[in-house]
Amino acid sequence: MTDLFSPITAGPFDLPHRVVMAPMTRNRAEEGNAPHSLNAKYYKQRSDAALIITEATQVCPEGMGYPGTPGIHSDAQIDGWRAVTDAVHETGGRIILQLWHVGRISHPDLQPGGTEPVAPSAIQPAGEAMTLSGMKPFVTPRALETAELPALVETYRTAAKNADMAGFDGVEVHGANGYLLDQFTRDSTNKRDDVYGGSVENRCRLPLEITDAVVDVWGADRVGYRISPFQPYNDISDSDPEATFCYLTTELAKRNLVYLHMVEMGGNEETGDFLSGRNKLFAKLRDLWPNTLITNGGYDRAKADAVIGGGLADMVSFGAPYLANPDLAERLHSGAAYNEPDRATFYGGSAKGYTDYPFLGD
Ligand SMILES: Cc1cc2nc3c(=O)[nH]c(=O)nc-3n(C[C@H](O)[C@H](O)[C@H](O)COP(=O)(O)O)c2cc1C
Repeated sequence: MTDLFSPITAGPFDLPHRVVMAPMTRNRAEEGNAPHSLNAKYYKQRSDAALIITEATQVCPEGMGYPGTPGIHSDAQIDGWRAVTDAVHETGGRIILQLWHVGRISHPDLQPGGTEPVAPSAIQPAGEAMTLSGMKPFVTPRALETAELPALVETYRTAAKNADMAGFDGVEVHGANGYLLDQFTRDSTNKRDDVYGGSVENRCRLPLEITDAVVDVWGADRVGYRISPFQPYNDISDSDPEATFCYLTTELAKRNLVYLHMVEMGGNEETGDFLSGRNKLFAKLRDLWPNTLITNGGYDRAKADAVIGGGLADMVSFGAPYLANPDLAERLHSGAAYNEPDRATFYGGSAKGYTDYPFLGD
């Protein structure tokens, strides 16, 4: 029976197992929001993952929404990421860059010139932004003009080229968790009356144009896409997630991307259980998706084996467990105990809670 440790081929990647490191923002970029040697060490430590998906990485300065997150729009950032990819490749790992624009989940304190963040529509999110001087209420964003959107597509194209220069093995378009592309996709945040709003086809237009630009650079077999159909995080929702995400998945499938990366959270926080049948949508999306499907959210070895064995997903990504266990794949394989993640050091800081989690045998 196929399980978490069955080898798999995904596009050009021949992978020894199906354990993926989920993207995780760690707010430890330095000068100029560029990665540095500590970040290279962190990713290298985790290169037993079949695929590492990096922390979300802004495609332009306006795409930034938290202090200390890395970008992929300057030479220093490309150089910093090159040191990371070299370190991962030295140990035989594979690393994919998550391309990010936060849209309205930002604050003037983090924006060039102190202006409002941009979004599909001028709707203020509930909640607070993390700024350099503490948490501050989100502001009402500026709705992007239709005429600005082609330049945004080009921004992603350039970021994708930069990722290639930085030595990545592929890129993941971040379409999840209430950030810019999710804000366009879901109807609680997109109230536009141009060709980028209204119908589901229109709401998915910008995410798909961006995907096409990224595929132009990389080829479809090195581009993945992340969705979170039920995720309410960042004050987002959709009146008909089934219609929205079945359409988006069908369109992404036509483009033959190497993988679809699904975040399961949000449908049922109590059980987080994909197999109970609570999320029939996942089964539908599986049927619509011909290539590798990576799923995510609260997995352990038994649940991962079950979801893969049942054919509902091909690979499983692990977030918090990977943060705290550099050798997570080995621990999942051998059934060894896990280090517990320390939430106090998730977002920002130094080596503590970043590169000092012990390996088995330490
Ligand atoms: C510290 C931290 C940072 C995260 N940052 C990102 C991110 O940059 N991009 C993203 O798509 N998801 C991000 N997530 C969500 C994770 O990728 C994943 O969906 C979530 O942790 C659930 O998986 P888990 O139960 O295995 O931890 C983050 C999660 C954590 C814990």
